[in-house]
Amino acid sequence: MSSKPSFRLDQTPAWRALLEHRDEIASQHMRDWFAGAGASSRVEQFSLRAAGLYLDYSKNRITEKTRTLLTHLARECDVPGKRDAMWAGEHVNVTEDRAALHVALRAPKGVTFRNGTGEVSTTVHATLDRMRKFSDDVRDGRWLGATGKRIRHLVNIGIGGSDLGPRMVCDALAAYGRANLTAHFIANIDPTELARTLPALDPETTLVVVCSKTFTTLETMTNARTIRAWFIEHGIPEAELGKHFVAVSTNVEEATRFGICRDNVYEFGEWVGGRYSLWSSVGLIIMLYLGAQHFEELLAGAHAMDEHFRTAPLEANMPVLLALLGIWYRNFFDAQTLSIAPYTDALQKLPPYLQQLDMESNGKSVQVDGTPVQWQTAPIIWGEPGTNGQHAYFQMLHQGTTLVPVDFIAVLLPQYTKPAYLDHHRKLLANCFAQSEALLQGGSMATAEQAGGPLGEQRRFEGNRPSNTVVIDKLSPERLGALIALYEHKVFVQAAIWNINPFDQWGVELGKTLSRAIEPELVDPATLTPDAHDASTASLIRLAGEALNRKH
Ligand code: F6P
Repeated sequence: MSSKPSFRLDQTPAWRALLEHRDEIASQHMRDWFAGAGASSRVEQFSLRAAGLYLDYSKNRITEKTRTLLTHLARECDVPGKRDAMWAGEHVNVTEDRAALHVALRAPKGVTFRNGTGEVSTTVHATLDRMRKFSDDVRDGRWLGATGKRIRHLVNIGIGGSDLGPRMVCDALAAYGRANLTAHFIANIDPTELARTLPALDPETTLVVVCSKTFTTLETMTNARTIRAWFIEHGIPEAELGKHFVAVSTNVEEATRFGICRDNVYEFGEWVGGRYSLWSSVGLIIMLYLGAQHFEELLAGAHAMDEHFRTAPLEANMPVLLALLGIWYRNFFDAQTLSIAPYTDALQKLPPYLQQLDMESNGKSVQVDGTPVQWQTAPIIWGEPGTNGQHAYFQMLHQGTTLVPVDFIAVLLPQYTKPAYLDHHRKLLANCFAQSEALLQGGSMATAEQAGGPLGEQRRFEGNRPSNTVVIDKLSPERLGALIALYEHKVFVQAAIWNINPFDQWGVELGKTLSRAIEPELVDPATLTPDAHDASTASLIRLAGEALNRKH
């Protein structure tokens, strides 16, 4: 039943003013705003620094008036009030009746957060202390495997929020890791990941972190059972498995039922959403791999961004501005996607991480009270590191028919500082800046003779294509923490404006339920009843069931 929308964002004065304003500037070219004397003041006007990050958003189809109207929209939608409610531990995740207090996870000792049931910061710091002790023991060789050997391989088993964040951080900061300690991630139920990872591991020196908020997720539990059997097959006695297995969960009961002793379970609160959880004990693999100090620096960077988000005026608030620019293109220019272009391979896992953060949070079509939205919500997030993307899909960004805003992420100094690498890095940055310049300026690559002919047209770039550039001095734990928190808050602000709940994810449940019904039918396709599925699904089940039941 679809009821009348309770709130009409599209009928607010700010929205209407933005529509009018869009029509005023739609035919203008950004190139003209950069021409002449005002050019450098435009950069000053549309750039800011926060938590060690620099954002240049001058290459957007905006004027001072646009920013003013967008911030009016943020005020009309009570972004500051909603932000303060989240900070205060109110149950902003209304459908699950929970707070969303990930900011509490990165606040230093002495800053106290509460949710509906009381103060949470003491437990946060007690867990951090336990994690620190454990990871120091593992890294310094006080925690040994069943046969007395030091741990050399770390394996995180988890999926979604229990995988993407830690995987992205470990990969981004691998330069801060140790040569004799490797980190592996197994997420997919597809056995390929296991089959490829296990041969690289030695069971005597492997420590597994089973990471799952619910401790019931099919993929994680199946992978955890398989790796448990692998230890036993390789001679690790069942009674000694505790030296090779720890758990991270809110569900201590399930974790202990799986066989992990209570002392080896690292808990976190229900009020931590999966995709906002890398700061909690879900980050245990990060701490094990990179050390407690680097994990703490990651938290400190995020906290610095939190403080900026909490206190800066909307007009000079980095997550707010990034969110408003996203709204501008999504809702007023019908941009369906946002491309993330990190100019460093170290951030190659940032786009998939942001896909979950943004699309699982804001891929909603009902408002917080369940009435329908009448405006577009989350864009499709996608991307690859530059310069690889340039040699693949950037053609479409420059000359395609679809408007695709781009977030460029540039890192000024390389993580690996061999003199020869500086040359690579210079070329990398030159490419990054050239791409946003080309998107902005457009131009023609045609020679004078070609200019009038068809080849001239093929070589013309219209430009006026928007981008942001986030600049980081060095990809350190602290800066990465700030960068992730920047996007978390951006997503929150957009949800606040669209009046949706970014903290639930009911959309993934239906597929999970249906797969539970299909699994036994694959074991025995004869159990398929004629009306159990649509004809297409039924025939696919039969096809796969027969293949799987054939002798291999
Ligand atoms: O399927 C979606 C989801 O619920 C994500 O939101 C979550 O991050 C992931 O599954 C993993 O859940 P868990 O940590 O409970 O295993």
